[in-house]
Amino acid sequence: MKLWGGRFARGGRDPLFEKFCESFSLDQRLVHYDLSVNQAYVRALGRAGALRPAEVRRLTRGLESLRRHVERHPHWARGVSSEDVHTWVEGRLEGEVGEIARKLRTGRSRNDLVASDVRLFAKDSIRRLQSAALDFLKALLERARELLGAVMPGYTHLQPAQPVLFSHYLLAYFEMLLRDAGRLEECRARADELPMGAGALAGSSFPIDRQRLAKELGFARVARNSLDVTSDRDFVCELVFSCALALTHLSRWAEDLLIFSSPGFGYVELAEAYSTGSSLMPQKKNADSLELIRGKTARVAGRLASLVALLKGLPLAYNRDLQEDKAALFDAVDTTRDALELAARVMRTLTVYPERMKAATLEGFLTATDLAEELVRRGVSFAAGGM
Ligand code: ARG
Repeated sequence: MKLWGGRFARGGRDPLFEKFCESFSLDQRLVHYDLSVNQAYVRALGRAGALRPAEVRRLTRGLESLRRHVERHPHWARGVSSEDVHTWVEGRLEGEVGEIARKLRTGRSRNDLVASDVRLFAKDSIRRLQSAALDFLKALLERARELLGAVMPGYTHLQPAQPVLFSHYLLAYFEMLLRDAGRLEECRARADELPMGAGALAGSSFPIDRQRLAKELGFARVARNSLDVTSDRDFVCELVFSCALALTHLSRWAEDLLIFSSPGFGYVELAEAYSTGSSLMPQKKNADSLELIRGKTARVAGRLASLVALLKGLPLAYNRDLQEDKAALFDAVDTTRDALELAARVMRTLTVYPERMKAATLEGFLTATDLAEELVRRGVSFAAGGM
C-alpha cells in the first residue's frame, strides 16, 4: 500500500527505486511513537469535529490492537515490504478496521508525523543517554574515592610534567561527561515541541487543538512555524553533536588508559572481560574495548558531518533527503550509549597500581617546579634558573 498512489494511474515502479526509497528497515523502530502520535491525533480530530465519536472509538481500538500485535510479536517487522513505518501503520490499520483507516490522514501528512515521531524518539534517547552518562560519572567518583591519595605523574605533551593525584585525573573526565549530560539536557529542551498540525508544510483547515495534543504527547510546547518544523532537524544535529562530543571525551579517556596500561607505564590493567588475546602471540593482552571506543568515535563524528551536509542545501520545506537523518541519528545514539555503558564497566573493573604510578612520579624531576617555587620563596627570581 502506498499513501500517495492517487494520481498515479498504473503501478510499475522500478523495484530498484522502491528499495532505494524505503526507510522501513530503519524507521520500524519508531513504531511505538508513531502509534502514540496517531492515537492522540485521532482524539484531536474527534474534538475538532472531523471524526464522529464512533469513528474515534473504532480507530482508537484499531491502533490499540496494532500496538498489542507489535508488543506480542518481536519479529513483527519481518517480511514487511512497506515504504516506511507510517505506511505500515496505515495499511495494517485498514486491515484491522477497514476503509475508515484512511480518515487518519485528515489534515496531516507524513511530514509532520515523522517530525513528531523523531522528536519523541530523541527525547527518550536523551533520557537513556543521560542515565548511561550518569553511571559512568558514578564509576569515576567511586574509583576516585577508593584511590584517594594515590599520586601519579601529570602530563603535558605526553611528557611527565608535575605530580597530580589519580583522583584529580579521574575527576577531569568527570567534568567533561558532566558537561555532556548538561548539553543533552539543553538539546532535549529544544526538541520538546510538537510538529503535528503543521501538515505537509502549511497546516490544515481543521481546528486542531494543538496545545492539548502537545500536552497529551508530553511535549512542552507547540511549534510556531509549520514550514520550519516540518523540515527542522536541528535537534537531530544537536543530539548527534552531543553524542560525538561525549564520545570524543570517552575516546581521550580510552587513549589515556591504553597508554597507562602499556608495559612501559603499567599504571593500570584492564579486566580480562574487556581485553582480547592474539592468535599469534600468546603473551599479548590487547585492550580492544578501549580501541573500539576510540574507533567508533570516528564513525559518530562522521555521522555529524553527514547530517550537516544533508541540511545545508535544502530549500524549504520538507524534502525527501531528510529521510536520511535517521541512519545518522540511530547509529549515533546506539553507539554512544553502548560506549558509555562499556566505559563504566571498564572503569569499575580496572586494576590500578598506585605504587607504579608513585615510582614513575619519583623518577623524572617532576617536582622541579615545586623546587623552583621554594627558591622563589627564599628570594631567588623564578627565571634565574632558566625556567
Ligand atoms: N519516510 C519519510 C521520512 O522518513 C516519511 C516522510 C515522507 N514524506 C513525503 N512527503 N514523502 O522522512
